Formats: sequence, C-alpha cells, structure tokens
Amino acid sequence: MNQGNRRLFLGSSLVALGSGSFLLGQDKEAKKTIARNRDPINESRNRRLGADLPTFQPGTLFLTWHTDPTTTMVVQWIGTRGETSDTTVFFTDDRRVTAFRDPFTPEKSDPKAAPIPWRNTAPRARPYPMTDFQVFRAELTGLAPGTEHIFKIGKSSPLYRFRTMPAQATDTFSFISGGDCGVSQACIDNNRIAARHDPMFAVVGGDLGYDNGRSVETSIAFIRNYSATMIDTEGRLIPIIPCLGNHEVNGGYGTRDKATFFYPLFDGLFPDTGYNTLDFGDYLSLVLLDTGHTSRVEGDQADWLDKTLAARKDHPHTIVVNHVPAYPSYRDPIPVLGKDGKTVNGTGENQRKHWVPLFEKHRVPVVLEHHDHTFKRTKALIGGLQNDNGVLYLGDGSWGRLRIPRKDDQLSVMVKTSEDYHISLHQLQGRERFHLALGTTGKVMDAVRSGQRKCGMVTAGG
Ligand SMILES: [Fe+2]
Ligand SMILES: [Fe+2]
Repeated sequence: MNQGNRRLFLGSSLVALGSGSFLLGQDKEAKKTIARNRDPINESRNRRLGADLPTFQPGTLFLTWHTDPTTTMVVQWIGTRGETSDTTVFFTDDRRVTAFRDPFTPEKSDPKAAPIPWRNTAPRARPYPMTDFQVFRAELTGLAPGTEHIFKIGKSSPLYRFRTMPAQATDTFSFISGGDCGVSQACIDNNRIAARHDPMFAVVGGDLGYDNGRSVETSIAFIRNYSATMIDTEGRLIPIIPCLGNHEVNGGYGTRDKATFFYPLFDGLFPDTGYNTLDFGDYLSLVLLDTGHTSRVEGDQADWLDKTLAARKDHPHTIVVNHVPAYPSYRDPIPVLGKDGKTVNGTGENQRKHWVPLFEKHRVPVVLEHHDHTFKRTKALIGGLQNDNGVLYLGDGSWGRLRIPRKDDQLSVMVKTSEDYHISLHQLQGRERFHLALGTTGKVMDAVRSGQRKCGMVTAGG
C-alpha cells in the first residue's frame, strides 16, 4: 500500500470507528467469516470417509516461536517414542505443495517435473513430566518471511499448513490475545471464534489450562483443545505465544521447577527466566513478563525491563503482556490488613511500583493483562490518572473463566468493565492499532484505537 492509499485507508477506518459503522462492518464480516468457516481439515476428512487416512496425526500438535517469527517456526507435539517410525519434520514453501489445499489427499508426483525441495529437521525429544510421554520439538529456521509453508511428520502424517510473519508491517494483520482459558466448553467456543478471524498468532497471557503444576491430564487437555480448534479458515495452524500465570505453578508462586508442565513445553522461549521478548523483525515486540510466579517483579526483571523497553522505544509496536494486572478489575488494588494483622499487598501493587513507571517512561502504548476473569479497558493512564498520552491497559483474562468486576470508586481508572467471556482481536495498520473485544458469539463488545505515544510529554520518573 503506498503512502497516499495508506493515509486514506487509515483515515476512513478512523471515521468509521468513530461513527460506529466499523462495528457494523465487523458484524457483517463476522457473519461472512462464520459462513466461510468450513473447518477445512474436518471437511476433507469427511470427504475421505472409507478411504485410508494418514496414520500419524498427533492430537497435541501445535506451533510456537522461540525467535523471530518472520523467519522461524517451532513445531511441537507430546507423544511416545515409537508411535511413528519417523519423526523427522519435512517442510517446504514450494508453491506446487502450498497451493494444494487438501491435507489428507496424497501428494501427486510428476516424474517429469523438478522434485519438491523438502527441507527437513529431526525433532529433539525430552521427557514430559509425570508421564512416559516425550515433548517432540523441531525448530524450522531460515524460512522466507510472509510465506505459506507446508510441513509433515515423517511419511505418515497429513500435510499441515502455516505462514510466517511478514518481514515488514506493510499491510494490516491481526492477532488474538486473552488469558485464563481452562479446558471448558467456553474456552473451546472462544478458540473457534478466535480462529475464524484468521489471526497470525494467539497470545495467551497466563492460566492456560489450570493444571496448577499438578494435573498432567489438564495440561494435555489444554494443548489438545488448542490443537484441534486453533486452525484458521484456510487450514493454517495458529501459533501460540504463552505467558506464565499462577495456575501454571504449583502453589502459584515458586521456583521454576514448580511450573511443572509450562517450561517443558515453552523453555525455548523462556530458557532461563519467566520473562522474555519476542521481536518480530523491527516492527513488533511482545514483552512477556512474569508477575512473580517464578521470577520476582522487582530487581533483575525490572532492570531487564528498563533496558528492554529503552532499546525498543522507537519501535512502532511494543506491547507488554503480563498475567496479574497492574490495574485489577476484580481484586482489590489497595493493600489490606490480613487476619494476622500483617499488611498484605494490594493486587498489582508491586507492578505499579516497579513496572508502570517504566511503561510510561518508554512509551509502551498497550499492556495486556489477565488473571481477574473479567472484561476491562482502562483509561489511558499516567501515574494512575487519565492522560491522552497515557498507557492503555486491556484485560482481564476471561477466555474461559468469569468473575463479576468490582463496583466501587476504586474503578475510576476504568472506562469499561463487565462480566463477559471475551478475547481481544488486535489489528495493526502502519503505526496504528485497533483493539476489539469479541464476546462469546463473536460480537464486537468494545473497540479502541491506540497510536504511538508521544515523546517528551511524560513526566513520570523511572
Ligand atoms: Fe485465572
Ligand atoms: Fe491467575
């Protein structure tokens, strides 16, 4: 899109957003996407009833990232050794394969044509705790950005599809975020709503399955549900980018080994600590934080956050993700005296002290929060007060869990709160962002725009 067209496009989007027709457009679009959400994998499976299907289809297969999503992809599944004779992951972006839409139809080979240039990598297998299972992990690197890819496992799996992130944010793209999923029907329904929007990926901001570091069945059920339902309308698997929550950790807060199932699955992204940054080329950085579950909020993590945000203050999209909200909508942010007479921290107090000044200083536009199981949108805030150049906090984690938000004057930082399941759809266009909250029917409950925060207007210290 050239500059003139982009300006026109953004201008018309903003006018429409203000007038409400953007929402109506979304409704129409949602209806269209529901109509064309044919679940291509199920359809092709049904078409082939009675025929031999691929014999190896791991129900826990999912995609994630460790490094730059423009050129890499990580393929993972939980399984046992020997359930298939060859676990090598073969992948290609050759159009003769990617143009082929049916994952269950055997490949046709033309002996006269040049062979398909399949690359391959052997996955590493490591034990999955409390079971005889292994986590199989293959990192595909050197991929072409913004490109459709196909992969298969050995010779007996279907063909699976994904796309790499574009090298530059030249066109609009979207991603989903939310948290506090569980393994309920509400979570599965929201997965399906998320997938209908063809997001490039989904950020899950903690409390994934609620395994509490103790229930292997729950940890696997979450991955199975995600694997089965987070497939877009073109049959692409939607990568997951996780963030640690208290329900991944036995006891909620502790040492790394207490996050029994989280790190065996996601230590590629979090090799040493519960926090890290995922940089998408030079246009998007997701700063994934650990709200004290295996890494302390203050000290090393706060120092790292200061440096990390400083290095990215001119990035068009630096978005922070954390689990416990700095501005909670259900729990009390004010410290209260416990029954033992000792002072107990208010929810998010540590973050408001150690992180919020850094968000404000380094021009973070949006913080995605979770844990309180409500829908919320705060005012744009500096130092807890509304400021047009402030930081927007969106939350509070109701992908599959629900609570009634507080109704008292402490909610003066909020624009909206409600007791609704929801996920967020973020649309990035140039330097602009639209954040839509989608309710259980896929209806747009809320829409807000966030732009780049201005330099030189922030007085809060760091
Ligand atoms: Fe939760
Ligand atoms: Fe939580």
